[in-house]
Amino acid sequence: MGTMRICPSILNADHSHLFSEIDRVSSADLLHLDIMDNIFVPNITFDFETSQRIIAHSQIPVDSHLMIHNPDDAAVNYAHAGSASVTFHCEASQNPLHTIRAIKAAGARAGLAIKPATPFSAVKELLHELDMLLIMTVEPGFGGQKFMADQMPKLREAALAIQEICGNRPWLQVDGGITLETIVIAAQSGADTFVAGSAIYKSANPAEMISSLKTAAHFARE
Ligand code: DX5
Ligand code: ZN
Repeated sequence: MGTMRICPSILNADHSHLFSEIDRVSSADLLHLDIMDNIFVPNITFDFETSQRIIAHSQIPVDSHLMIHNPDDAAVNYAHAGSASVTFHCEASQNPLHTIRAIKAAGARAGLAIKPATPFSAVKELLHELDMLLIMTVEPGFGGQKFMADQMPKLREAALAIQEICGNRPWLQVDGGITLETIVIAAQSGADTFVAGSAIYKSANPAEMISSLKTAAHFARE
């Protein structure tokens, strides 16, 4: 059984106290930074300058999730800003392989994301190039939505394909609706990296929730 990673999303944190909200989750593995442009998704979040400040402030590595159209030029900027990992959407990219390689050349891990309606076959050929595959378990755009259990066959399909890779295997991330209950389902279906927004920030004790989520994911895999 491998490592299980918890990535708190600050999307629904209190944006008027952003830095202290970030500090509250410093026991997590990665800080998940959702970037939205109001074009690829009907919502807007942090501009590039704010993202740079968040990345500079965070004590833990930052996992930038770009929900933007035309990510092929912009993705590398988030790597240069110091993200440990940069994930962009396959549906929005003209040349995913080129962008994956640019992110890596800039020193970050490269992730590729797919929306619920996109099949695993859309990214299968690129799997061995990736450091992480993100399978969305909600329609991207907003926190606090319900986990889509109908994505689990796709997750299992991806997990099986990843097992067949010799050498560096990409992490398998899920994002959307992760709770103490749904993390078990996602971990049993093969995910090893879990984004959680509301579950962590709506809990009375975020640090405790991070550790409970991690324990639940580990138990699910045993
Ligand atoms: C949704 C974002 C998620 C979101 C998750 O488009 O990509 O990262 O913050 O929030 P919860 O955990 O509340 O579903
Ligand atoms: Zn996200």
